[in-house]
Amino acid sequence: MATNRTFTMIKPDAVKNGHIGAILQQINEAGFRIVALKYTKLSTEKAGEFYDVHRGRPFYDDLVSFMSSGPIVAAVLEKDNAVADFRTLIGATNPAEAAAGTIRAKYATSIGENAVHGSDSDENAAIESNFHFAGTEVFA
Ligand code: GTP
Ligand code: MG
Repeated sequence: MATNRTFTMIKPDAVKNGHIGAILQQINEAGFRIVALKYTKLSTEKAGEFYDVHRGRPFYDDLVSFMSSGPIVAAVLEKDNAVADFRTLIGATNPAEAAAGTIRAKYATSIGENAVHGSDSDENAAIESNFHFAGTEVFA
């Protein structure tokens, strides 16, 4: 089924390295409309909650400490087939395997510090959007 919305974060590495503008531009040029946007920082607790599905994995503690290490940009994006198309735009989790031209190929430095997050399903897109944004902060 074609989906309309996904959720993304520009992660602390890409923010720190000055890539917010370039990444948002690439997102817009790929046909996504930004319907919610926030510059914020996750507490350790909030980062742990967001990535709760990975609790117990060997990289979980590093992931939580990285995601709470500095400010992020959170956004809700709208487009036909948003979830799948956005995963294509960002590329593989490991930037060494990410297709040329994808956001992770261009801006990620490692599998742990990989520049952006993208929701992996419609259901998670909705959960993650609600985690970061109140309904009054989303403008279709
Ligand atoms: P997200 O969009 O951030 O959810 O990434 P993903 O869906 O491509 O990957 P996944 O949900 O499986 O993992 C979540 C995050 O955990 C990844 O983006 C990485 O930052 C981190 N991660 C996943 N696998 C590894 C790993 O093997 N080593 C390390 N250090 N980090 C990992
Ligand atoms: Mg994921």
